[in-house]
Amino acid sequence: MTAVSDLTSVRTASFEEIPVIDFAGVLRGEPGAKAAAARAIRDACETVGFFYIRNHGVPEADIEQTFAVGRSFFGLPLPHKLSIHKNLSPQHAGYTPLLAENTDLANDGDLHESFDMVSPLAHYPAKSANGEDVNLWPESLPQLKVTLDRYFDHMLELGKRLFEMVALSLGLAEDFFLPHLTHPIAMLRINSYPPQAAKADARQIGIGAHTDYECFTILAQQPGITALQVWNGREWIKAPPIAGTFVVNIADLLQRWTNDAFRSTRHRAINISGAARLSIPFFLGVNYETTISPLPGCVSAERPGKYPPVTAGDYVLQRLNETYGVVA
Ligand code: OGA
Ligand code: NI
Repeated sequence: MTAVSDLTSVRTASFEEIPVIDFAGVLRGEPGAKAAAARAIRDACETVGFFYIRNHGVPEADIEQTFAVGRSFFGLPLPHKLSIHKNLSPQHAGYTPLLAENTDLANDGDLHESFDMVSPLAHYPAKSANGEDVNLWPESLPQLKVTLDRYFDHMLELGKRLFEMVALSLGLAEDFFLPHLTHPIAMLRINSYPPQAAKADARQIGIGAHTDYECFTILAQQPGITALQVWNGREWIKAPPIAGTFVVNIADLLQRWTNDAFRSTRHRAINISGAARLSIPFFLGVNYETTISPLPGCVSAERPGKYPPVTAGDYVLQRLNETYGVVA
């Protein structure tokens, strides 16, 4: 049975709904700017769970190169891509073919391919003792590793800045999270969405409705194509690409760590633009072994802790195993 629906009737978010937060002053170390950004982040995290950041400090040329190398990767012959299939990796690094992932279990598979690089720093249990790279790289495109390594470093640096702002927004010391970010779990992904018809089976879309698993996600969207949609509690709203920005969203581990003060918001992507669309999310957690139990200030007599403690890495790996149908 197919549920054919019109996927075009979704309005665009206003700047009040998904704010654009300017990081220029934060990166220059202006004290007033940090406090203002922390307030704006707190507002966004407690309500919609999504915000854009402008003047983030990542060179546009490196972002463009990452999109370009992503395009080259997805253009490789299918056997090259399948030779680094994600099923070969206990950490879920490598290539995911079309429809192999299913983020919304009510759906029939996600209409995208992707490539995942996992953090070379993280202490995964299955990682060999000599600490070699657990990533799966395509032999026919050596530039992929070179470009993604550089982009990964940019994302980690920006992610640490964001964690400082999150700490301030929660009334914690600015460096509160830094001891948990010495070798964090993280995933850098490139998604490739083929175009789909506007009147289509709503159970087979670019990426089904889901929340992300880590602490937060920093997303680069291909310019000129709107596909990302955010659930605002009542309806879906579009979060179009805005030049010079990343989209940031809170994910499940941070919602849990804040005892639900911050909101990990459902989102999905539907590409009815008529052209292929790439997106580049960076999913950032904390050190594998960090214990996630409610942060100071997030529990009180009125708001008792809702979740038992969990190890950050075990939690995320378990969620990934479920998504890819791995029985652990
Ligand atoms: C994801 C995701 C959104 C997009 O990869 O988790 O939500 O716009 N992507 O590609
Ligand atoms: Ni997502």
